[in-house]
Amino acid sequence: ITRGDLKYQGKAKSVYWTSQADILWLHDTNQATALNGKVHENISDKGRLNSAISYLLFKHLHQHGVATHYLKHISETDELVEKLDIIPVEVVVRNFASGHFVSRFGVASMTELTPIVQEFYYKSDALDDPFINDSQLIALHYATAEEIKSLRLKSAEINDILRRRFAEINIELIDFKLEFGRRADGNMILADELSPDNMRLVDKTSGQSLDKDIFRQHKGDLTVGYREVLQRLEKLEK
Ligand code: C5P
Repeated sequence: ITRGDLKYQGKAKSVYWTSQADILWLHDTNQATALNGKVHENISDKGRLNSAISYLLFKHLHQHGVATHYLKHISETDELVEKLDIIPVEVVVRNFASGHFVSRFGVASMTELTPIVQEFYYKSDALDDPFINDSQLIALHYATAEEIKSLRLKSAEINDILRRRFAEINIELIDFKLEFGRRADGNMILADELSPDNMRLVDKTSGQSLDKDIFRQHKGDLTVGYREVLQRLEKLEK
């Protein structure tokens, strides 16, 4: 399989066509962004760390029977994925209050959320990813009622699996963002990536942040936390 033309230049990744129409080539860049791309910086080694973490988490989900677009880790910073018809929705799952949940609802940071909170955002840089609810999704034909039900079930299941995985390495999964897409047969599966760019992770003992919040809050070198997450995940592989 060979890499073709650039299909889409994202913030933290580039998406290419390949010699096979149903397969895409993802390249993880070293770009870190915040505030929907208004702040960005090149951070050496970030692409490799994200690519490696994403690979291990997708592999773990596969071992637990979750269908995803992930096909193959082909280099330190590149992966092959199934081409899907992406649903223009970001699904955010929250186990604890943090980030926008705290600023929006005025609750204390790290308040445990029971049951878990699931939020939908319409994917649009121009509109700053606004909140979108079920009836809006259906009326705008972005997803069917069946698909919305499935988005909730699948994201809750993925949360259970990932939360348990991170607990094994003394990390709390605070919240994260998922994206889904449809296969040609209409079946909806997990897409995008699974990395500390898209999830909040804290060490259960020290409370230290191991994700992109370090960059968002100008608190130093983000790769220290990413490297720590990768090292702990790699230990589980042995
Ligand atoms: O900013 P907020 O608190 O809503 O983010 C919730 C979670 O979703 C965080 O883990 C964040 O990294 C992720 N997220 C994302 N992409 C977005 C918005 C949020 O990965 N566009």
